[in-house]
Amino acid sequence: MGFKSEIEAKNPGESGPSGSGQGACTALVVFGITGDLARKKTFGALFELWASGDSPIDVVGVGRSEWTNETLRNNARKAISETPKFLESKGALSARDSYVDQFLEHLTFVQGDYSTGSLYAQLSTSLRSHGSVLCYLAVPPTVFPDIVKGLAGTDLRRSARLLVEKPFGTNLASSIELAAQIGANFEENRVYAVDHFLAKESLQNVSILRFANRVFEPCWNSQHIESVTVTFAEDLGIEGRAGFFDSNGTVRDVVQNHVLQVVAALAMEPPTSPSADHLNDRRRDLLDAIVPVALRDTTFGQYNGYLDTEGVRANSTTETFVRTKLEVNNERWRGCDWTIVAGKAMAESRTEIDISFRAATHATSIVGVSCDPEPNRLTIRLSPDESVTLSIQSRTESVPIGTAATALISTSSYRPSEERSAYARLFDDARRGDHTNFVRHDVVATSWRIVEGLLDHNVVPVVYEQGTWGPPAQGQEAAD
Ligand code: BG6
Repeated sequence: MGFKSEIEAKNPGESGPSGSGQGACTALVVFGITGDLARKKTFGALFELWASGDSPIDVVGVGRSEWTNETLRNNARKAISETPKFLESKGALSARDSYVDQFLEHLTFVQGDYSTGSLYAQLSTSLRSHGSVLCYLAVPPTVFPDIVKGLAGTDLRRSARLLVEKPFGTNLASSIELAAQIGANFEENRVYAVDHFLAKESLQNVSILRFANRVFEPCWNSQHIESVTVTFAEDLGIEGRAGFFDSNGTVRDVVQNHVLQVVAALAMEPPTSPSADHLNDRRRDLLDAIVPVALRDTTFGQYNGYLDTEGVRANSTTETFVRTKLEVNNERWRGCDWTIVAGKAMAESRTEIDISFRAATHATSIVGVSCDPEPNRLTIRLSPDESVTLSIQSRTESVPIGTAATALISTSSYRPSEERSAYARLFDDARRGDHTNFVRHDVVATSWRIVEGLLDHNVVPVVYEQGTWGPPAQGQEAAD
């Protein structure tokens, strides 16, 4: 199957007459280009796409700030120069710089108020020469309705695709309302809801590990697995993002989306088709089986110093750390303990899955020797480096014979700076009409349902020191 037909098979309808029918988008409108996300991810990803020669795309940045084309280009240049890919790219600096100059010529800025119709009329007119346009909403969810309404009032209603950045709503009710509002104006196959974790190659490797290795599938269930812990730790605090973070917190920021998507990839039933819809059905079915999380099973933490950050409300109870239990109530997982941990200002940045198998059943009778071997553990590290470690038991050197854990380690041979960044993949997928790495709105809604009981809580979080692993779990000694 050729590349194009593969995409058509994955996304029936998208490239046919009822879909965009206009091939790849040649222009990208970024709403919220003056924000933090653009600086951290968007500019770098767009340059990456442009430099790969895959995406001859014009970029129109839209924002409320009084920027000019020059301000936009200066900010883009700075952001690009700080990305690891740029810093590590080969070739003389002067050659790289002239490459950036060429890219920047494709960037223009439009200043406007998102609730004003003239902004959209102006965009529609200036984008008329482009067959199909990708509109990226990298703005707070409260602004989405204005932008959707504004775009729908122009010709862009028929030709644009919407790329909607998380958080998709702020709770279950608002996510349903938002989906309905978008749905009233844009066909579903034109909407791409972003969870950039789905485009991370390291997360996709979880599916490879599970489904391309026969050895795991028979024991991938609660009969053999006792517990699973998913950890998403970041060493940075909320630098520069207090405005967003303090009214959202860790549950909304990363648990409802990224962490639950890791859980879905780990626990869902094996897909039987590459279609984007089928994958989303699998994700939704798994998330549907998770019992809503209870406050009593949850520890909230807040790092020491958070309250002194500019923009954080006095006495804010917003959590910068959360540890909670999940109950996956289906045939495969009933009886397995799931824990998720996510936090800022932690000892190190690390996304990791730790799977503990049940103890071996014949342990005491091995070769007639009495021993008590540790259960096997499988540790899948997604970042910063990628590795899979299986700890197995083997004999010790000692006499009489005993058992000890030995690690079988598989590390990835490519460097993160050499793979395509998640955002570059997402922009490219959306412009080509491939939904595989995007979440469908029912998947988003069911994730909100799981965490609904943790939102807008009044629990005073446990204060933890920056650079630690957060508040200790119950029964655990203080974190180092
Ligand atoms: C974002 C969150 O969605 O993901 C951030 O808003 C978080 O708080 C980021 O830092 C992590 O993404 P990555 O790709 O840098 O691990």
